[in-house]
Amino acid sequence: MSYRRIVITQHGNPDVLQLVEEAELPFPSPDQVRLRVLAVVAAYTDVLIREGLYPGIPKLPFSPGYAVVGVIEQLGEQVSDFTLGQRVVALTVTGGYSQYLCVPASELVPIPDGVEAHEAVCLVLQYVTAYQLIHRVAQLKAGQRVLIHGAGGGVGTALLEIGQILGLEMYGTASAAKHDLVRQLGGTPIDYRQEDFVQRIRSLTGAGVAAVFDGIGGGHLRQSYQALVTGGHLVCYGFSAAMQSQQRQLMVAATFGLITALKLWPDRKRVSFYSITGLKQTHPDWFQQDLSLLLDWLAAERIHPVIAQRLPLQEAATAHHLLDQGAVPGQLVLVCNGEGA
Ligand SMILES: NC(=O)c1ccc[n+]([C@@H]2O[C@H](COP(=O)([O-])OP(=O)(O)OC[C@H]3O[C@@H](n4cnc5c(N)ncnc54)[C@H](OP(=O)(O)O)[C@@H]3O)[C@@H](O)[C@H]2O)c1
Repeated sequence: MSYRRIVITQHGNPDVLQLVEEAELPFPSPDQVRLRVLAVVAAYTDVLIREGLYPGIPKLPFSPGYAVVGVIEQLGEQVSDFTLGQRVVALTVTGGYSQYLCVPASELVPIPDGVEAHEAVCLVLQYVTAYQLIHRVAQLKAGQRVLIHGAGGGVGTALLEIGQILGLEMYGTASAAKHDLVRQLGGTPIDYRQEDFVQRIRSLTGAGVAAVFDGIGGGHLRQSYQALVTGGHLVCYGFSAAMQSQQRQLMVAATFGLITALKLWPDRKRVSFYSITGLKQTHPDWFQQDLSLLLDWLAAERIHPVIAQRLPLQEAATAHHLLDQGAVPGQLVLVCNGEGA
């Protein structure tokens, strides 16, 4: 049986995302299952992967797709703890823009009955990132102040939703079109295009915030650092700024250089870099626990992922054009098999 997937054959703009037809379904190795993919998130991280700016990606050609939800269709001969027909999510990093995919059983997390597949898939990358930034890295407590950059985006809206549940006082930078969304999710919006966010934070809080979550990177980190109180914690987790730079690889390197320099600055503020795959490697138990907790919150309707649009898999390039323009409030989901998501 044939199936379709999106393949990148060269790095570049969204038009490098090509739909291809494969003649035979992939066959799972003994420790894998084959998933019929219901949906995959189209995330900004996929944009960085498409452009070749993300560390550790496979050699071309390959399919992007960081987080999937699917139905188990075939079990590898050593897999005994999952059943055919079960719905699961997985952090695949690449490969998810496909109708069918083989994934190691050790990577699967079951989703509760009654949860919508297209909502569950939104938790795997952006919500786990948000939860771990708050709970595992910055270890924020109710009542503490936090500044969230890109507050109207995928990770930003997840941070706001989780931060509201945990009782944080939240400020979020976003373009004006996303301010109502930031307010609805409990944050005070700051229009970073029109005003200096450091001055605005000082005028709103006096001393500053206990934590800043910065997915922008580059020189932006210096300003984020200035918005902290003494003892505050800057967590960098991305380098979106690299996409606006003429020298993209240099900007990624500069982000890591600046993190090292700020760490050495002797003024009792903390600086760290978060990576979902890095923390998953050192603490696989945390990843499983945190994703399972978030799935329970979704089942209990405590969280409601903001989904800007659901598009069919073949419109992956359209999704990437929207992401490139920063025109996505919340998240984008690609529906891979036309039903059930
Ligand atoms: N380290 C990890 O494990 C990890 C995990 C997930 C994501 N990430 C990274 O985190 C970053 C954000 O991901 P995402 O999924 O939330 O992306 P997203 O959905 O595209 O949201 C980011 C938003 O940031 C806003 N923005 C752009 N430049 C800005 C600036 N200078 N100041 C404030 N806001 C700005 C844009 O909206 P407006 O300009 O309209 O406000 C954009 O929509 C990406 O670099 C991604 O690769 C890292």
